[in-house]
Amino acid sequence: KRHLLESADLDRADATLVLDTAAQIDQALAGREVKKLPTLRGRTVVNLFYEDSTRTRISFELAAKRLSADVINFSAKGSSVSKGESLKDTALTLEAMGSDAIVVRHGASGAPHRLANWVRGSVVNAGDGTHEHPTQALLDAYTIRRRLGRLAGVRVAIVGDVLHSRVARSNVWLLHTLGAEVTVVAPPTLLPVGVGTWPVEVSYDLDAVLPKADVVMMLRVQGERMNASYFPSAREYSRRYGLDGRRMAALGDEAIVMHPGPMNRGMEIAAEVADSVRSTIVEQVGNGVSVRMAVLYLLLGGRSE
Ligand code: CP
Repeated sequence: KRHLLESADLDRADATLVLDTAAQIDQALAGREVKKLPTLRGRTVVNLFYEDSTRTRISFELAAKRLSADVINFSAKGSSVSKGESLKDTALTLEAMGSDAIVVRHGASGAPHRLANWVRGSVVNAGDGTHEHPTQALLDAYTIRRRLGRLAGVRVAIVGDVLHSRVARSNVWLLHTLGAEVTVVAPPTLLPVGVGTWPVEVSYDLDAVLPKADVVMMLRVQGERMNASYFPSAREYSRRYGLDGRRMAALGDEAIVMHPGPMNRGMEIAAEVADSVRSTIVEQVGNGVSVRMAVLYLLLGGRSE
C-alpha cells in the first residue's frame, strides 16, 4: 500500500504486519544508546498539521528522525494558509521541495483522501475531523497486544464522546478486524446516528459493562466540537460516564485502562485512575513512536534502494 488513510482499509494481514514490524523495531532498538536506524536516509517526511497536536506530531517527527529521514514540520498557523493558500497548493508546494511522505492532520473529514489524489508520494492520516486517526488505533492495538498478549477475543469498552471521536472510529474498525469484541458506551446524544451499522455492541450503562471488560478505553470529551444542546453538564457527565476509583474497582484483575490523550482529568477520567498501575496512557505514547516508525518504514522503506 502507498498510503495509510483509514483503519477500515487495513485487513488483518496489513494490521498484523504493522504491529509485528513495530515489535521488531522495539527489539532492534532495545538497550541501544543511539536509537536510530539508517532505513530512510535521504527521504523527506513532512508533518502537515492544520489542527493542534502534541503526541501525534512529535511522535511522527521522532519516528521519522529515528529512521534517519529529514523532517519538515509545517503548521498551518504562521504559514501562507493565512493568506488563503489551499490544501492542494500547499501540498504541491511541499512536494516540489522534495517530500516523499506527507503526514496530515486536518479539521475536515476526508482531507487526507483528497491529498492522496493530488500528490505522488505517500499520505498518512494523522487525524481528519471526526473521521479517522488510524495510527492511534494501531498504537492502541499494539499496547493491548503487549499488555494482554492477544487481540482476538479481547473485550474492549470504548467510553464517552463517540460522536466526535475519530479515535473511536479507527479503533472500532481495527479492533474488529483483529478479532476483538467492542462495546461502545455513551449517552445517546454522544453516539453517531450510524452506530447501528458498526460491528459493536452499544450500551448506555457504564457500570454494567465494566466488570466484563478486559480493556476500558476512555475518550476525551471534545469541548471544541461540542454543542451545548447535547451535552448535559460536566458534573452530570462525570457522574454517569466518568471513570473514577470506585468504578475502577469493578474491573477484573488483569483489565487495563487506556486514553488516547489529551485527557480532561476529573471529567472523563479521575487522576487516581489515570495515574494508576492499570493505566497504559504513558505507555501508549511510547508505543506510538514505534508504531509510526513501522508505518513510515512500510510505506517508504521498500522503495528506498
Ligand atoms: N492522541 C492524539 O492524537 O493526541 P494529539 O492531539 O496530542 O496528537
